[in-house]
Amino acid sequence: MPDFVKVAAVNEIAAGEAKRVEVGGERVALFNVAGEFYAISDVCSHAEASLSEGFVEEDVVECPLHGARFNVRTGKNLSLPALFPVARYEVRLSGEDILVAPRER
Ligand code: FES
Repeated sequence: MPDFVKVAAVNEIAAGEAKRVEVGGERVALFNVAGEFYAISDVCSHAEASLSEGFVEEDVVECPLHGARFNVRTGKNLSLPALFPVARYEVRLSGEDILVAPRER
């Protein structure tokens, strides 16, 4: 079981917004979907773009570079040009802190 690390405070990310953090040396995009927090890789599976800078609508983020869409709860790719999902990370709350677990390798 990986150790969860604190990456942000709950009040740093408003509903419908995202923040880029780093977990275990990887860039992770943290999303607030109506008060629930989700974490997926910040790096789009199509090319080098930051999903935390994408357009978020409910639980879907649209890549800012070519518009591929991903489900922020699962990392699943929902549209071209992305052919692959992105990694998903476990998120846990501890009081006002948001914790994310590094991916197991
Ligand atoms: S880099 Fe994300 S869709 Fe191309």
